[in-house]
Amino acid sequence: MAKEKGLKIEKSAKLFSEALKVMPGGVSSNARLWQTAQFCPIYTPCTIFVKKARGSHMWDVDGNKYIDYRLGFGPIILGHSHPKITKALQEAEKEGTVYALDNELELQVSKQMIDLIPSAEMVRFSVTGTEATMHAIRLARAYTGKEVIVKFEGHYHGGHDYLLFSTSPPYDTRIRPYPESRGIPKIISKLVHVETFNNFASIESYLKKNHRKVAGIILEPIMGNASGIMPKPGYLKHLRELCDRYNVVLIFDEVKTGFRVSRGGAQQLYNVKPDLSTFGKSMSNGHPISAIVGKEEMMRMYGPGPHGVTQGGTYASNPISLTATNATLSLLKDEDIYSKISRFGKRLMTGMKDVLDDNKVESVMVGHPAMFQYVITNNHREIHNYRELKSTYGLDLFSKIQYWLLTRGVMVDEDSQECWYTCLAHDMDEDLKPTLDAFKVAVEKAKNSKFKAQRFKLPPERGPPTMLTEGTRGPISSQ
Ligand SMILES: Cc1ncc(COP(=O)(O)O)c(C=O)c1O
Repeated sequence: MAKEKGLKIEKSAKLFSEALKVMPGGVSSNARLWQTAQFCPIYTPCTIFVKKARGSHMWDVDGNKYIDYRLGFGPIILGHSHPKITKALQEAEKEGTVYALDNELELQVSKQMIDLIPSAEMVRFSVTGTEATMHAIRLARAYTGKEVIVKFEGHYHGGHDYLLFSTSPPYDTRIRPYPESRGIPKIISKLVHVETFNNFASIESYLKKNHRKVAGIILEPIMGNASGIMPKPGYLKHLRELCDRYNVVLIFDEVKTGFRVSRGGAQQLYNVKPDLSTFGKSMSNGHPISAIVGKEEMMRMYGPGPHGVTQGGTYASNPISLTATNATLSLLKDEDIYSKISRFGKRLMTGMKDVLDDNKVESVMVGHPAMFQYVITNNHREIHNYRELKSTYGLDLFSKIQYWLLTRGVMVDEDSQECWYTCLAHDMDEDLKPTLDAFKVAVEKAKNSKFKAQRFKLPPERGPPTMLTEGTRGPISSQ
């Protein structure tokens, strides 16, 4: 049998063992630590050290080139290092990086956002998606004078204590606010109610009984952190009506969907206006900026004084991130970008589904062409919520397919809840065919693989990663 080339990974491995000595887990964000034995190249857990990224491609320190479908967990909508944005940033750097006073660009970008986002009447900038959702729910509480926030299983709204519940909970237990980290005060779970997405009756009956204590409902209108599950027809409108009926603030967390699924986000796609919404990621093609936008009447509550709502931060609306946002939004406005991304995404989804069908792998394609996932399942024809997603049978096979993709230059994630993201730089000739060819090989190899996954424990604290000896890892060098 021909010998597989596999991934060269020596430099990444060496850097990772150094990183483990100075960074917990060797990473700066837990989600970057790959932990699935079937997926990780060479050792588990692991990460890859990136050298650079341009357009739709990424190169690691060992010289491997990838077609990137992780796109930084979603922000890259135009392609990495878009030349027009890079040029604008080079000029901006000369004018200073942080003023802690207003600047004209801030006004210009606010106007652009109001122009593009259907529900945006006013704008406040922040730096991360986490901050934006934190500030949005504070505003909802201040506006209504109520305290409970409703969120949905499988929806992620950042790392703060108030919403870090039930993003990836056990799915064989009663639905409840499940803390996703140690260190979150138990008392906060009393301020959170968790619902099942796309269940019309359940949210209605909960609000009927409890609306007097509910300040807001926050949701990802498309579940960007659960494989791109879409809302059922009429579901977002249903939430809008319930919020109107019960004086509850409707908050769309569009940190992933915003400027990705359409110019005006999911709210434009589904024609439903939330009261508040949060944006980040694609609004700047990957620079640190986020925003809370919404109804003037609510937004005007932000301000100093005993009756005001606090929002702010040293780096909020810094001129560098604003420059990137300004350039990104101008490009997104002027070019026929969304139809191109959609065309590419649709072709990719259809091609992948054909490969899975040809190989008799039962599956469902979930999501929007700009953010989607294939789900290996024989339980469902459609997937509408987190529990349906999780009650699938094919995670082992999924991990193996993703592994084989990685070894063939297709950058994907181990996490089946993450999406494949597409961007303007993805090219029908240069990227589509190679990806589908790789997918075909990956599915065939994963299906026929005799490789038995082994689980390796995290190396001792500050120690080097546990390297597998040659041959132990199977697919790396043979099969
Ligand atoms: C929907 C959603 N909201 C909020 C966040 C948090 O954003 P950040 O990582 O910028 O804090 C994320 C991050 O992935 C997200 O997907």
